[in-house]
Amino acid sequence: MDYKRNILITGGAGFIGSHVVRLFVNKYPDYRIVNLDKLTYAGNLKNLTDIEKKPNYSFVKGDICELDDMIALFEQYNIDGVIHLAAESHVDRSIKDPFTFAHTNVMGTLSLLQAAKIKWDGNFNGKRFYHISTDEVYGALQFDGSMFTEVTKYDPHSPYSASKASSDHFVRSYHDTYGLPTVVSNCSNNYGPYQFPEKLIPLFINNIRHGKPLPVYGKGENVRDWLYVEDHARAIDLIFHEGKTGETYNIGGFNEWKNIDLIKVMIKTADKVLGNPEGASDSLITYVTDRAGHDLRYAIDASKLNRELGWKPSLQFEEGIEKTIRWYLDNQEWMDEVTSGEYQRYYENTYSNR
Ligand code: NAD
Ligand code: TYD
Repeated sequence: MDYKRNILITGGAGFIGSHVVRLFVNKYPDYRIVNLDKLTYAGNLKNLTDIEKKPNYSFVKGDICELDDMIALFEQYNIDGVIHLAAESHVDRSIKDPFTFAHTNVMGTLSLLQAAKIKWDGNFNGKRFYHISTDEVYGALQFDGSMFTEVTKYDPHSPYSASKASSDHFVRSYHDTYGLPTVVSNCSNNYGPYQFPEKLIPLFINNIRHGKPLPVYGKGENVRDWLYVEDHARAIDLIFHEGKTGETYNIGGFNEWKNIDLIKVMIKTADKVLGNPEGASDSLITYVTDRAGHDLRYAIDASKLNRELGWKPSLQFEEGIEKTIRWYLDNQEWMDEVTSGEYQRYYENTYSNR
């Protein structure tokens, strides 16, 4: 069959990528969706069992850092659009192993850009290279009500955010230098089903279930903005189709939470869902040594996306967090699977003596 578009989604077996793949495969039966993923510890094809047999879906195991493979992939599938999510994504891991982050996030993005430049060869009509990034590139805010906008100066602090900032700069450089039709979005913290349980929300839900300590970094006063992952996927769909070439769009939930307040909501909701008496898991809160270079506050102004493309978050946080907690508690098999093997070893080495 001749597809209307042939879209490469990288990192589609990961948390956000799997939601984007699902949305595109279901919503656009006339697009071929090619999911390219290396299946690192964070990639899990079981995130996609519901759509894996759809005729417009293909999975390719591969590494974005391999330029020749990326060129061959563009050739084989006649790729005309890229939604690039593949990355190393966890700040704590980046502190232990910054080189892997530079390799995957910077060199991997560069090789994808180069593959697009070579294969599209100046014929950019109907082409799009969409790079998914994070608000962490903007650095840290104080408790003063200020927010990141699209013109906030980049000021990354962790090896993770430094690698994402660098990749964003390379994407812009390919637009400005070679005319590649790029677009970038920077989103706040996502939550929802299929997130690897090293990140705050799924880690804490799993620990509450098993009565294990909840390691709160520092005093728990850091602030993050949280967005339900399906709302992010909807924004990605909109920006991919309607975003202006060369532009950046901020995406966020207008939903700031101090970590400790969020943790208390999680405990209360999880205890309710588990049928525990109120307050049963409060004593699991354990204050531990703060993360090195821990950014105090992130807050993102997503009003440009609302003004220009009409997007806004659809889910209220209280509803989203309860839905998420129920999902993890109902999908213990998924959790057991991803917490075995590689992740388990890493978890023991890194966190067990905190
Ligand atoms: P994730 O860690 O859950 O998934 C990353 C995926 O990339 C995995 O499936 C992994 O196997 C794959 N991958 C890693 N290295 C690869 C390589 N060399 N080649 C091919 N595939 C590779 O990450 P996520 O949380 O879903 O984040 C996806 C993207 O969104 C990242 O670029 C991240 O920086 C960005 N982002 C994440 C958040 C968040 O809250 N999680 C917020 C804003 C932006
Ligand atoms: P995380 O989910 O790692 O996302 P990010 O660092 O990209 O924002 O962490 C969210 C917040 O929760 C962050 O301020 C660090 C904090 N945190 C803890 O206090 N304990 C934990 O075990 C983890 C994983 C995070």
